Amino acid sequence: MNKKYKIALLPGDGIGPEVTCAAVSILKKVASKFKFDIIFKEAVIGGDAIDKTGNPLPEETVNICKESDAVLMGAVGGPKWDNLPGELRPEKGILGIRMALGLFANLRPAIVYDALKSSSPLRADILDGGLDIMVVRELTGGIYFGERGRRMKDGCLSSFDTEEYTQKEVERIAHVAFKASMKRKKKVCSVDKANVLESSRFWREIVINVKKEYPEVELMHLYVDNAAMQIVRNPGQFDVLLTNNIFGDILSDEASQITGSIGMLPSASIGYSTLGLYEPIHGSAPDITGKNIANPLATILSVAMMLRYSLNEDSAAKSIEQAVIKTLDQGYRTSDINASGCTIVNTNEMALRVLENI
Ligand code: IPM
Ligand code: MG
Repeated sequence: MNKKYKIALLPGDGIGPEVTCAAVSILKKVASKFKFDIIFKEAVIGGDAIDKTGNPLPEETVNICKESDAVLMGAVGGPKWDNLPGELRPEKGILGIRMALGLFANLRPAIVYDALKSSSPLRADILDGGLDIMVVRELTGGIYFGERGRRMKDGCLSSFDTEEYTQKEVERIAHVAFKASMKRKKKVCSVDKANVLESSRFWREIVINVKKEYPEVELMHLYVDNAAMQIVRNPGQFDVLLTNNIFGDILSDEASQITGSIGMLPSASIGYSTLGLYEPIHGSAPDITGKNIANPLATILSVAMMLRYSLNEDSAAKSIEQAVIKTLDQGYRTSDINASGCTIVNTNEMALRVLENI
């Protein structure tokens, strides 16, 4: 009897459905090659869910995700829903499902593939020695979930958002980062703004404490402004970047650019159980929606992360990663990563090329 996995599919908005469809074809292929069965269950999220149910995260979607072994998501958001109040925006769907599933850790690997070196905006000498950074972003705390509102201050209308972390929240994300680094180069750089923010000083104290349990790991701290600069000045110095929700959001987009395109970066959102949510870090890209030109590789690589972290199918994960490298080496490119002498392919063709290489 083959093993059976239940996967919840949340295509979402914009290019979300196109890239998830491409990634599902890859998942089906590795399932048949590595002899496991997949039962897909599709659910609505984001703007799509608002249009169909009036709610960016219907309860049914949460239930389908909770009953699954893993969740594959496309993207949420778009100009159509931009003027809705905060509570009803498509983004509430993704923030809500991260919280509902307890996915406090977000892993965002930024790797420069040899074949894509010329697509990176950084000079070749800066990328010498390759680049492989793992951003470990706290995902269910901080300013994203802190107290917020509007109020009168000094006779004037004002607004506020709050950055707040409990000791437990910082400890558990720090453990994720140190554990991840133990399987890598054993280097963690914790990013904060401890020269200004009390929440960052607290963060730093806790990270230093947790580090005592990982004597082999080298820990350094950078202020976020300096980290943003170092990522483009000397990215090779980094192994694991540990940071809070909002700094991680910003720095992972920055790191993605070094790899050539945001269309290359997968992500895994995980918690205490093996149930995780996997999504490309790019957004819904309304400007290219429906054109079949989006780069599906970030979502395809997210499937590889799903196989590794939630389904414990490491060989299947590796076969996808190797197929992606081979496809890039063969010169196939979506337009976001195109370079001279390469063959431009659309979303479906790129998926097909990867599929043939598995
Ligand atoms: C991301 C996105 C989300 C975030 C948005 C869509 C809410 O930018 O996953 O990085 O800020 O977390
Ligand atoms: Mg982001």
